[in-house]
Amino acid sequence: MKALGLLLALTISSVYGVDRNNFKTCDQSGFCKRLRPFKPEKSQYSLNLDTVLVHGNVLSAEVVTVDTGAEKRTILWHYTLRLSALVDGTFRVELDESDPLYPRYRTQLALNGEPKPDSLKLVSNENGRLTLTNNQGHKVVVTAEPLKIEFLDRSGEVAVVLNENSQLLVEPLREDENNWSENFKSHHDSKPRGNEAVSLDVSFLDAAQVYGIPEHTDGFALSTTSSGEPYRLYNLDVFEYELLSRMALYGAIPFMFAHGPKRSAGVFWHNSAETWIDVVNYADSTVVSSLVNLVTGGQKRRVDVRFMSESGVLDIFVMLGDTPADVFRQYTKLTGTTPLPPKSSLAYHQSRWNYVDEADVRGVDENFDAHDIPLDYIWLDIEYTDHKKYFTWDQEKFPHPSEMVANLTAKGRKMVVIVDPHVKREAGYFVHEDAIDNGYYVKDKDGKVYEGWCWPGSSSYMDFFDPVVSKYYSERYRYENFPGTSKDVHIWNDMNEPSVFNGPEITMPKDCRHYKTPQDGHEGLASYWEHRHVHNEYGLWNIKSTHEGMLNRDNGKYRPFILTRSTFAGTQRYAAVWTGDNMAEWGFLAASISMCLSLATAGISFCGSDVGGFFKYPEAELITRWYQAGAYQPFFRAHSHIETKRHEPWLYEPATTALIRDANRRRYALIDFWYTLFYELSVDGLPVMRPLLQEYPKEQETYTIDNEYLLGDKLLVRPVTEAGVTSVKVYLPGAESHTLWYDPDTYQQYQATGYINQPVTLSKIPVYQRGGTIIPRKERVRRSSVLMADDPYTLVVALDANKTAHGTLYIDDGETYEYRNNRYIYAKITYEPNLMTYTFVNERASYPTRSWLERIVIAGIKTPPKTAKLHQGDRQVALQMTLHRGNDVLVVRKPSASMAQPWTITFTY
Ligand code: NOJ
Repeated sequence: MKALGLLLALTISSVYGVDRNNFKTCDQSGFCKRLRPFKPEKSQYSLNLDTVLVHGNVLSAEVVTVDTGAEKRTILWHYTLRLSALVDGTFRVELDESDPLYPRYRTQLALNGEPKPDSLKLVSNENGRLTLTNNQGHKVVVTAEPLKIEFLDRSGEVAVVLNENSQLLVEPLREDENNWSENFKSHHDSKPRGNEAVSLDVSFLDAAQVYGIPEHTDGFALSTTSSGEPYRLYNLDVFEYELLSRMALYGAIPFMFAHGPKRSAGVFWHNSAETWIDVVNYADSTVVSSLVNLVTGGQKRRVDVRFMSESGVLDIFVMLGDTPADVFRQYTKLTGTTPLPPKSSLAYHQSRWNYVDEADVRGVDENFDAHDIPLDYIWLDIEYTDHKKYFTWDQEKFPHPSEMVANLTAKGRKMVVIVDPHVKREAGYFVHEDAIDNGYYVKDKDGKVYEGWCWPGSSSYMDFFDPVVSKYYSERYRYENFPGTSKDVHIWNDMNEPSVFNGPEITMPKDCRHYKTPQDGHEGLASYWEHRHVHNEYGLWNIKSTHEGMLNRDNGKYRPFILTRSTFAGTQRYAAVWTGDNMAEWGFLAASISMCLSLATAGISFCGSDVGGFFKYPEAELITRWYQAGAYQPFFRAHSHIETKRHEPWLYEPATTALIRDANRRRYALIDFWYTLFYELSVDGLPVMRPLLQEYPKEQETYTIDNEYLLGDKLLVRPVTEAGVTSVKVYLPGAESHTLWYDPDTYQQYQATGYINQPVTLSKIPVYQRGGTIIPRKERVRRSSVLMADDPYTLVVALDANKTAHGTLYIDDGETYEYRNNRYIYAKITYEPNLMTYTFVNERASYPTRSWLERIVIAGIKTPPKTAKLHQGDRQVALQMTLHRGNDVLVVRKPSASMAQPWTITFTY
């Protein structure tokens, strides 16, 4: 599969394809070249046992580097180690110089507040080893010389080891002894602080695979990097990016997890500088057996990884699982979960670079109605502005933005407009003038305003790290400052890596200067951060400011929807993400699944790809399959490049348009299911789009599956990403627990038996509802999701082998924060042969929904009940039922219960 993809990527590159010369290899990146070969036999780092202090949840101690080559023990450098126990099976290890020349950068925005402490007890201190425990029965064993830290799971087995391979390194800051500077192509990096890299190796014992560190196109399970480039994390605008690559891309999330039959564990490398990661999976055939024996003593179930960052402090969180879901929860406890988005943002979005004027927007809007295809959002790309001056409109093409938006909102539709972080340097443009007058821009290495090149031509970049700038920028979103916008106009922050067309690797030079909070000794190099330190975090500062602005424009009443291209740890707190400029190629459709799965496990569930592909023209079969896949991915938006042939759904043959219509309607029928999943995400942080291993962690076949996934724990989705096929291989998990899977259209039942060959036609992709679940549907699909708010529900009950099922349903007004004042319903729905119940999890919460229960479909019922009676308040009604013998389906007709109140239905046999 991988080889095929590679071949495909190579074929494309003859016409399309990334220009690798624009981007560094490890060898061209000074610190990566310096660090990668560093594999000492023995670590220089050792802990001074006399300095150990355990206070509260923190152990602190001095760590020194010693010259291992010298006859006499000579201390080279002093460091301070902090090991903290945090709630929920998480530990944090920080190592910084004890007395650095200047403070080193500590990533500021990734964490969602201070992590909560657990207790940490020193159990023993003997033979040069410290043993500690937290409250949950995990242990940490710290070996003093050379320094090594082992984390033990609750059964006492070693799960994660730091510095097992002696690759711990914190390069001390020094006075300028040499010329440290580096060149890449025509770009010069002055590197005023010299070398300041940090590195650490992490061993995951008993692991079959490691995953995470998005964003890459290289499949969900990560591969061994020994014979190629490491994975790179550096937010970059990679034009025509390629498949199956470890090259950097728009996003950089330094979270990784390992999984095997025994347990899962994760690490979060809390660092926003350029980072490279090597992976060695000892089970891979590329790893020679002598190395396996040497390092692991023949143990193949182990994966070693190594993080190398250009700067910052060493700061790593270790999450001890022990299941995948535990690790995902532990990670989102640190970096936050996705807040509840506007319900409409889970519906369908139509975008293009560009809808050229108001008439074009109207035409698109009307065509969706004419072709009976539901739509919630129309998007405007950069051409709507007056010459790429954001917060303005092109007066000729968009003279009446408010009316244009009102025309959409009349049908419950909305708009998204793009606002990029670069600012056109033009006299008279108010944003630019304000920025120049007040010093809001990022500075170059000499302290002058940095000038780069982007869409508007000569541009400068807001320094969001300065609270004054961030506030100024957020205020641009106020309605009075951005006329034509309203609560129904949402925002797309693109190009925020940041993209700089004439910069090194199409981004900002690393020696540019950012704001630093003034503190003692605030002068010279200590008075600013370099772009090098903060690069991967830049986009996060951008969207945070946008988020604040959108909240404040309505005094915190409405939920903002933001789409961002650049991502970092914590992005999920503010925005949805898409996979950038893909291509209308089958391989990119397939990559949308593994890329979004990887992002979802790293906290960002709200993910999608440009449906149909950004570059090139999708032929009918590809666009059909893409809509069918997109309809089951969290962020569902079609978008395309300005130079491609238009490909809105009605521009194809009527048969294709009909298939696209059907795919969209499937999404809308499930809109309340999606909304419920996102409510649950906002509470528990667990991926909406789930790898199979999350729900079936013991089934080893699932460890490398990334062409199918689960939505919540209820729907199994296997998009068709192959051209011209009449059947596809599908893995149906859960054989051991006798799981049943149901086709949601025919209710045909499948026993989980592992792989099956599923016949497919062009009309739909394989989707299965898990037996034991209840899913809410709305069968009257309307022009937009908002118009469906009061519509009645159908509940689809798919029985498990015990003839039971349960589900949930979330309802609120879809757009405000009133749910935080208990204006919502979160209902638990259960089915047993004698009783079905609809009860509220939080009884103090309510929402006056006008929706009612129209129908219950019970699939997998062999013995139907004789009577069914609804009980709601004082009302009791005997219900009508129809049995469909052919497929064991019972339909309970028109229970007509209000969904605003709890109800029960009793069955007799
Ligand atoms: C790059 C984005 O990735 C793409 O989606 C957008 O259309 C162009 N910028 C123009 O804004």
